[in-house]
Amino acid sequence: MTEPFSREKLDRFRGRMTDVFNLGALNLAMAIGYRLGLFDGLAQLPRPAGIDEIARKTGLHPRYVREWLGIMVSAEVVDLLGADGEPLYWLPPEHAAVLTSDSGKNNLGVYTQEIPLLTTLVMDKVVENFRTGEGLSYGHYPRFQAFMNELSVAKHRDTLLGQFVPSVGGGRLVEQLERGLDVCDLGCGQGAAVVILAEAFPRSRFWGIDLDRRALAEAEKLAAEKKLKNVQFMELDAARIADRPEMENRLDYITAFDAIHDQTHPMEALRGALFMLKPGGLFSMIDIAAHSAHRDNLHHPMAPFLYTVSLMHCMPVGLADEGAGLGMMWGREKAVEMLREVGFSGISVEEIPDDPFNLHFQARKA
Ligand SMILES: C[S@@+](CC[C@H](N)C(=O)[O-])C[C@H]1O[C@@H](n2cnc3c(N)ncnc32)[C@H](O)[C@@H]1O
Repeated sequence: MTEPFSREKLDRFRGRMTDVFNLGALNLAMAIGYRLGLFDGLAQLPRPAGIDEIARKTGLHPRYVREWLGIMVSAEVVDLLGADGEPLYWLPPEHAAVLTSDSGKNNLGVYTQEIPLLTTLVMDKVVENFRTGEGLSYGHYPRFQAFMNELSVAKHRDTLLGQFVPSVGGGRLVEQLERGLDVCDLGCGQGAAVVILAEAFPRSRFWGIDLDRRALAEAEKLAAEKKLKNVQFMELDAARIADRPEMENRLDYITAFDAIHDQTHPMEALRGALFMLKPGGLFSMIDIAAHSAHRDNLHHPMAPFLYTVSLMHCMPVGLADEGAGLGMMWGREKAVEMLREVGFSGISVEEIPDDPFNLHFQARKA
């Protein structure tokens, strides 16, 4: 039964629409500011500064800087001081701590790029595909891939060795890696994670698998720069691993960072992981922290943002070539169901310290 038309509800929703317009516009303006180094420049100023000084510091035109600052002060991102004289602008250190490019794992400024970038790249295509149900190839997202890599490099650099690895396998993984394991990173992209691991654990042998030749070339370059002898990369579709008998029962440990939900054939990719593991081997799947049903995400603090990123990227790339199109919000229930269905056992799901965006699914080959 629907409720009768409510004047109060209408007014409340009008108010929310004002927030939508203001915050949507603010995200765009912050993305421009982040990209131009305006937050970095403001954070480096030792005291509140006028428009000309900020423009000089950042090498930008004062007229544009003035308009941008109007947005930032009215949205309370930047403080406006100097009530009686020249207006002075100050980025509080508490805001700088999450907005500048050197704020590492606390960097929220970088995420302001995500929606504007996806809008620029594929909005018209996504609108078109609503009618056809077709997907989009990775070729539509060149700058987005580079952006995602930047995000994951920053995250892996800050947390992989100090927090993530010690939390795996009940804390025993570090010691095992020190002694020597055969490890693969599935969907390794430009190799950020696997190179850090190979460098930290020289007695273990590492493989990075991805189907993106350009990403693998970057990964190989990175490994060569670090003169690593214990890592190699393979161009391979995760869905076709089980066609390669030489890959069977070879690995002790497999990771997949943010690499399963946008696979076109995720079941086959999971089957491939199981196929490569030795009996007793461990699979770590790091994927988005959400539920599968809409009703269970109603209180997820980032649900509208994450569903939008999925709509603009993860779901369309997963739908390409008549793929499954799971989308980023496939959720833990669906993920566990799929791990179980392909035959993993001992499945557990844990939160990751300092990473509210993801969950850590651990599963073993019996
Ligand atoms: C979001 S990126 C994550 C990359 C990397 N794991 C990281 O954390 O930076 C997903 C990666 O999965 C790869 N990928 C997608 N489908 C694949 C498939 N069928 N086989 C192998 N790799 C695949 C993409 O090329 C991309 O590099």
